[in-house]
Amino acid sequence: MNRRELVEKIHKLHYNYDLFSKENNLKNTSYDEIYAQILKHPQKENYILTSNNHDLFDKNLLYFFSADEINSITKLLNGSQECFVEIVKLFDTYRTNTKFMSNLKIDINENICDLEADGVTILRNIFSDKELSILCDFEKHLSAKSEELFGPMTEKASHYKTPLVLNNNQLAISSYSEKVLPVNHGNTRHNSKNFKGYLTLHPGCENLLFKKEIETIVRYYFKNTSSNQLDLYQQTAIDWMYSAPYLSTPWHFDNYMTQLKIFIPLEDVEVDMGPFYYAKKSHKYNSDIEKYMKHQYFINKFNYTHGRLDRNHWPGVCKDYGYEIATSILSDEHVDNCHTQLNKDPVNIKNNSYEKIIGTAKKGDAIFFDVCGFHSANLVQRGIRKSLMVYTDHKKLLFSGRFFDFICK
Ligand SMILES: [Fe+2]
Repeated sequence: MNRRELVEKIHKLHYNYDLFSKENNLKNTSYDEIYAQILKHPQKENYILTSNNHDLFDKNLLYFFSADEINSITKLLNGSQECFVEIVKLFDTYRTNTKFMSNLKIDINENICDLEADGVTILRNIFSDKELSILCDFEKHLSAKSEELFGPMTEKASHYKTPLVLNNNQLAISSYSEKVLPVNHGNTRHNSKNFKGYLTLHPGCENLLFKKEIETIVRYYFKNTSSNQLDLYQQTAIDWMYSAPYLSTPWHFDNYMTQLKIFIPLEDVEVDMGPFYYAKKSHKYNSDIEKYMKHQYFINKFNYTHGRLDRNHWPGVCKDYGYEIATSILSDEHVDNCHTQLNKDPVNIKNNSYEKIIGTAKKGDAIFFDVCGFHSANLVQRGIRKSLMVYTDHKKLLFSGRFFDFICK
């Protein structure tokens, strides 16, 4: 398969052949033939699939891409950055052009526009203390119990596991375990996927994530009105960020395709409490470094063996502890990964200047960001930054997610 054929097939994936055949009384007509007819139709946009039609998209995937072809597509995308970028952009063009009707009266248009244009937006004062109370109580319980069992969290960075069991119909934490990381970069994390099947989300999240404004922004970004509420979210994580000598995360991106996360502070995040940085507009494939890094990530997937060993922000750590740079981390050559002082200046990433968003926020706010864009941590100078990180399910909700999942299996 060559580039032109692949691009055409990606277009073909986006049409509703069942609907067109039914309306035009077509029987025993191949999808390719129907596609040719759709293109001649004056209202061809009426037959474009919306992300509500996952089943039809999957049917198209199986129809247009045979198992034999998958290898040649991967080879083509690995071998040509230009082709890869064209395909990702094509999926994104279909996503952004899809109309989304919301009957929500409250005005969140500005947030939706900012999120699309910049890759980040802050929704202010959306949750009351009461709405946050179950989650905050759970956080207090977890951190108190963890400190009792494992000692002060400030002296290390770690991951906690707390599997859940059902006792007399009551959900209870069955055991605690802790994996301490070799370098104290201040971040301790508790992930809902460690509940092992009982809950996808931390207790108290329903109040927050199914609140109309939050759900609408997520659905708008994915242009999805029909999926089950629970299918929107993949997992949640409680993060405790302490003062530590090293940044927990240098400049990086999480994915080569659109993926939305929500940062919900459980206490105010002031300027000296480690608010994150986000490089505005870096979620699109505009600059050479965005194209290069994301293509490399597509080729090598997330791993530590294709990274570089020259980062300064963890001096000595890489070699001493066997840490290498993951494929999605920007090298020290390209950006300052050692920043210790917060500033509002644009960030320079391989000769590209990006305006920054500083993630300061009040308890009650929610920050939405597309993690296909570049972002980084900041050192905590005072207190503890406590937050909930929410992972939306882009692999389920987006056609690009479904396509790349399909070819990467
Ligand atoms: Fe990230």
